[in-house]
Amino acid sequence: MSDDTTGNAGGGELPQIIQGGMGAGVSSWRLAGAVAREGLLGVVSGTALDVIIARRLQTGDSDGSVRRALAHFPWPTMAQRVLDAYFVPGGKAPDALFKVTPQLSVSPTRAGLELTVVANFVEVYLAREGHDGVVGINYLEKIQAPTLPSLFGAMAAGVGVVLMGAGIPLSIPGTLDRLSRWEPVELAINLSGGEAGDTAVQRFDPREFVTATDHELARPQFLAIVASEVVAKTMLRRATGEVDGFIVEGHRAGGHNAPPRRAGR
Ligand SMILES: Cc1cc2nc3c(=O)[nH]c(=O)nc-3n(C[C@H](O)[C@H](O)[C@H](O)COP(=O)(O)O)c2cc1C
Repeated sequence: MSDDTTGNAGGGELPQIIQGGMGAGVSSWRLAGAVAREGLLGVVSGTALDVIIARRLQTGDSDGSVRRALAHFPWPTMAQRVLDAYFVPGGKAPDALFKVTPQLSVSPTRAGLELTVVANFVEVYLAREGHDGVVGINYLEKIQAPTLPSLFGAMAAGVGVVLMGAGIPLSIPGTLDRLSRWEPVELAINLSGGEAGDTAVQRFDPREFVTATDHELARPQFLAIVASEVVAKTMLRRATGEVDGFIVEGHRAGGHNAPPRRAGR
């Protein structure tokens, strides 16, 4: 992948071995890039990337990797706003506090959305840098508020595969389809404190969000991480778009997947 951020594995055969996404920041771009270079599926963790990238900038981005990726971000003025907000040349003083990043919610601020989009772009871009291997990104379904801007940022960097577990990601396959056509997307966000099942809808319109919309957003493959046959069947029956495969792992694997309700199912 020289300079192009176009799609990475859309529709192609997936590598035989998949390195698990490990959050937050455990499977970073270095690990995923090294795995993808070997022809396997390298997976970055998409959890809390806004905080992780903001902190890398505040500690001075010593290897220049974040700024290198930002130089390839398709919307430079947005990248510059993130740099202006978080980059500290040489790094902040050790005892200085990190800046608090905007909390994402049902109606996130522009600054929060921009940081999340840019951060997901940076991590995927760096993982794909210098090779043609397949790179994926892993999210937890239950961490909902960052999901839509995160997917947009990762797709802008040409992510090949989205892996999601820790819940039943029924709406994500359709969201990937719509984003790949530059169409507005929605996500039902579970509300805590209300009645069980209370949700509010978060909307994200990529055309409203960026100026130039000629950048390709290839549809990545979607793998659901499941711990039970029931969830797999539910995904196949009710998901809003193509499910390209399943990662089947027990609930002890660290993927935050609920154990099967009944033994043997
Ligand atoms: C430190 C650590 C963090 C993890 N974080 C996540 C995560 O954020 N999302 C996820 O889906 N799986 C997560 N996992 C699970 C891994 O992606 C992978 O599925 C699991 O480690 C595979 O288990 P195995 O190596 O025992 O086969 C994590 C695992 C570890 C060890």
